[in-house]
Amino acid sequence: MDALQIEGGPPLVGEVKISGAKNAALPILAAALLVDGPVTIGNVPHLQDVTTSNELLGRMGVTVSIDEKMRVTVDASTIAHFVAPYELVKTMRASILVLGPLLARFGQADVSLPGGCAIGARPVDLHVAGLSQLGADIRIENGFIRARAKRLRGCRLVLDTVTVTGTENLMMAATLAEGTTIIENAAREPEVVDLANFLNVMGARIRGAGSATLVIEGVDRLHGGSYDVLPDRIEAGTYLLAGAITRGRVKVRDVEPAHLDAVLAKISEAGGEVTTGDRWIQVDMHGQRPRSVDIRTAPYPAFPTDMQAQFAALNSVAEGVATITETIFENRFMHMVEMRRLGADIRVEGNTAIIRGVPRLTAAPVMATDLRASASLVLAALVAEGRTQIERIYHIDRGYERIEEKLNALGADIRRVPA
Ligand code: UD1
Repeated sequence: MDALQIEGGPPLVGEVKISGAKNAALPILAAALLVDGPVTIGNVPHLQDVTTSNELLGRMGVTVSIDEKMRVTVDASTIAHFVAPYELVKTMRASILVLGPLLARFGQADVSLPGGCAIGARPVDLHVAGLSQLGADIRIENGFIRARAKRLRGCRLVLDTVTVTGTENLMMAATLAEGTTIIENAAREPEVVDLANFLNVMGARIRGAGSATLVIEGVDRLHGGSYDVLPDRIEAGTYLLAGAITRGRVKVRDVEPAHLDAVLAKISEAGGEVTTGDRWIQVDMHGQRPRSVDIRTAPYPAFPTDMQAQFAALNSVAEGVATITETIFENRFMHMVEMRRLGADIRVEGNTAIIRGVPRLTAAPVMATDLRASASLVLAALVAEGRTQIERIYHIDRGYERIEEKLNALGADIRRVPA
């Protein structure tokens, strides 16, 4: 297992090109199962989770090929099995996204239940309940969700909680259902919109994406085509914070600035000068220490839970005291304990962390526990005095493409070493 060694050091300065969004690429790869004919997906990030998705499709007998530009072509006409096995689902919860498409197009799906994960219980009950309402017969058996249906029938679905992959699963299933489906309290994340755009390019009839009400008129089939995945707003936000925490100046390119409104507002509040243009954002700290900022996570367009850990790192060296309140996941504070090993002053009370900024952090061995927690440790290590070793970085590789290369190009000192 590899580790990252990071020498804390100077301000990061320069430009980074942002990759395609993991959280859009994964549902779009799953949505390719709905399509009659080959689908070519561009701007797919080179990540472990994408490899896992391709493997999952491959095991089903789906033909997947990748060209030198990382364009992935998926042809589901060769499908032979309708199963997502435990060994893949347990490494990537987003495997659940094949449930809706398999059921809607082929009438059957056996998808392993994901179980718990490092950030909480994360149930999939709303996915299952919604598909039942669309007419599927679903049993939980031997650790699997076993779903069967003739043709799904459109209906009105009201989601109890805003769920991103839940909305996506139900939206995908409804594209091929008979009649119209209305999803109320739908997730409004840009990745949900990207999936809807992809499906519409392939012939689906989805309206309202980006609002809380989706209206999906079922069609008989979707046809092949090509589509480019939107930029990764979380990757972009993470590099901007790398600039902010080191008191440097970082510009991210190939991004959609509007998708980061809530994050950019917090960076400004922390003292960063934020400038945006056509598909770029720059943050300049002018060498100043950041100020502490209170964070409360909530569904889009509010502040994203996937940026919470990175702001914990920023607050740990900022001037002042701030609270971070996590409202989406019940156990997403594992990084706080690791950051204390670097000298951060953090107290956790329930779903709130109280962080008192310290003037300096000092290097120590730490362990990555989940994807975004890993990113926060990288950020903290960039300013900790000495050499920090981060173990279990396979978590980082699930969501950040070539992170050490991108950060080194900004002037960081990071090496990947066999641990
Ligand atoms: C997605 C993102 C993840 C992000 C999260 C919240 C992908 C692949 N992953 O995860 O990066 O952190 O959105 O923005 O897009 N819930 C239920 N029942 C369900 C489904 C969800 O109770 O059936 C709850 C969850 O436990 C959680 C909340 O709803 O408390 C939101 O979770 P959800 O939006 O579903 O997260 P994911 O889609 O798994």
